[in-house]
Amino acid sequence: MLIKRSPNGIDLPFPSEITPRAVFESRRAFIKQLALGSIGGAALLEMASREAFAQSGQRLPARANPSYVVMDKHTAYKDATSYNNFYEFGTDKDEPAGIASVMKTRPWTVSIEGEVAKPLTLDFDSLSKLAPLEERVYRLRCVEGWSMVIPWVGYSFSNLMKKVEPNSNAKFVEFTTLADPKQMPGLNSRVLKWPYVEGLRIDEANHPLTLLTFGMYGEVLPNQNGAPVRMVLPWKYGFKSAKSIVKIRFVREQPQTAWNRAAPREYGFYSNVNPEVDHPRWSQAAERRIGEDGLFAKKRKTLMFNGYSEVAPLYAGMDLRKFY
Ligand code: MTE
Repeated sequence: MLIKRSPNGIDLPFPSEITPRAVFESRRAFIKQLALGSIGGAALLEMASREAFAQSGQRLPARANPSYVVMDKHTAYKDATSYNNFYEFGTDKDEPAGIASVMKTRPWTVSIEGEVAKPLTLDFDSLSKLAPLEERVYRLRCVEGWSMVIPWVGYSFSNLMKKVEPNSNAKFVEFTTLADPKQMPGLNSRVLKWPYVEGLRIDEANHPLTLLTFGMYGEVLPNQNGAPVRMVLPWKYGFKSAKSIVKIRFVREQPQTAWNRAAPREYGFYSNVNPEVDHPRWSQAAERRIGEDGLFAKKRKTLMFNGYSEVAPLYAGMDLRKFY
């Protein structure tokens, strides 16, 4: 493969090698607009960092949904794609960005089954076209005490629920993700029982904020961020947002989730962001924004439900210290 050396010394493939021609050319047109000064400085910086770290380069057009914006600065693309938790590809933050690039994400099918009137098996194209794609800027707070602000591309999971028609026995939804030892060296580690499984109560799954996600920063998801399809639940700790989903099952009983099985005292089923309930080994009261707050900077206060107070009615009457 042809390699060029970027200004920061990282070897990069030529964009023309990894990007379909039409996409490459529309980027060139975009960059020309930048040069003509019709696009502002912040967009320019974001575009520059996207260019430098673009992995797939495949655009995923979506209409920005103005109901879901946050005032905070977007996390730089390079930070969001190089500081990841994806244990199937290793437990170090920088491992998924390198190792996950070998994961094959096409063809890809997701089966939607269990307590539903209309079970479905869909490939990426059919699933991503089931409802209009929206761009939504969400904060995501990791249980480890860091956070990011990312423009995601997807649609409310409730659209998929409408299609498959859960029956009255469906009380929870279980998300199972890919576990392929040929592609995922992290499966040799016993840190979790594989496959990675997550779960939601049916009303949480049906909440408009719950995003079935196919892209970020206007492009298809990079592999390390959970290509080709993942969940994003901005009011819950990041581990609830399962990556690289292959099966969605509507079930009667509360699913056994990977982290809850591994350490039940540390990771509950609900895992709502809650600054008042500490993790047994560390405080959850504050967080560090990746790419902005240095190790010695004063941390930001973490907000209840990560600031998404509209979900509070889902938990009315529940003791959130007990149901953490
Ligand atoms: N999904 C799978 N399949 N495997 C994982 O290890 N890690 C979770 C979640 N989804 C994980 C996963 C955790 S701990 C976090 S914080 C988020 O993904 C991180 O998402 P990001 O790398 O896109 O920021």
